[in-house]
Amino acid sequence: MRSVVVTGAGSGIGLSTTELLVDAGWHVVAADRDADALARLDEKMGNRTAMLTPVALDVTDEAAVARLADQCHSLAAPLAALVNSAGIAANVRFADTTTDMLRRIYEVNVVGAFALSQALAPVLHENGGGSIVHIASVSGIKGNLGRSAYGASKGALITLTKIMAVELADDLIRVNAIAPGPIETPMVKENHTATTREEWHRTVPMRRYGRPEEIASAVAFLIDDRQSSYITGQILAVDGGFTAAGLMA
Ligand SMILES: NC(=O)c1ccc[n+]([C@@H]2O[C@H](COP(=O)([O-])OP(=O)(O)OC[C@H]3O[C@@H](n4cnc5c(N)ncnc54)[C@H](O)[C@@H]3O)[C@@H](O)[C@H]2O)c1
Repeated sequence: MRSVVVTGAGSGIGLSTTELLVDAGWHVVAADRDADALARLDEKMGNRTAMLTPVALDVTDEAAVARLADQCHSLAAPLAALVNSAGIAANVRFADTTTDMLRRIYEVNVVGAFALSQALAPVLHENGGGSIVHIASVSGIKGNLGRSAYGASKGALITLTKIMAVELADDLIRVNAIAPGPIETPMVKENHTATTREEWHRTVPMRRYGRPEEIASAVAFLIDDRQSSYITGQILAVDGGFTAAGLMA
C-alpha cells in the first residue's frame, strides 16, 4: 500500500478525492484546518479507518507543515503522492479587492501549496519518486469576472506547476495541475449567485456544473504511476469544455 497526503480533505474536492483514493487502496493522510470535518470523515470511514490518518493542519502554518513532513518519513505505507486541494476563494471586482484579501488568498492557495510541496518532495524522493497534483482553476487560465485575487493565485499555481515539474524531474517526481471548471461544492454554494450560475450554464458547453468526484478521478489518474508515468508539467482542465469554447451560438 502507498500513502498520499490530501490537503483540504474535509470538504468538496479534497473530501471526494480522499474517499475515491481510499476506495482505490491508498492510505490517505487527510489534512484540513477544519478538525470537525475531519472527525466526520473519520466516522464515515467505518471499518476502513486504517486507510485514513486525519491531521488537523492549517497549510499556512509552516511549523505544522514541517511536523507533517516528519510524520510522513515514518509512515507504514510509503508516501508516493501529494494533492494540494486546500484553497479559499472570493468573487469580488478588481476595484473592490483589498490588498489584504489578495494576500490572504495567496497565503493559502499559493504559499500553502508551495510549502507543502517543498516539505514533502524530499520524502517522495527518498521513497523513489512520486506525484504532486495542485488543484488550480479555470480562473487561473481565463479572465473571469471578480477573480482578480483568486484567479491570480491560481495562475501563480499553474506557473509553479511547470517550474516544479522541470526542477523535480530528476528526483522522479511528476508535478501536474488540474484546472476545474465550476464544481458543486460548499465553496461554490457560498460564492455563486443565481446570476453566476446562469452565466456558467451559458458558457460551459456541457451546460452543467461538475461533480467533485469528476475531479477526484482525474487526480487518481495523475497520481497513478501505471497510468500517467510520462505526464508532467501539464494543466488538465476538467471543465465541461469551458476553456476550449469560442462562439457558442
Ligand atoms: N468548487 C469549484 O468550483 C472549484 C473550481 C476550481 C477550483 N477549485 C479549487 O478546488 C479546491 C477545493 O475547493 P472546494 O470547492 O472543494 O472548496 P471547499 O471550500 O468545499 O473545501 C476546501 C477545504 O479546504 C480547507 N482549507 C481552507 N483553507 C485551509 C487552510 N489554510 N489549511 C488547511 N485547510 C484549508 C477547508 O477547511 C475546506 O475543507 C480549492 O483549491 C479551489 O480553489 C474549486
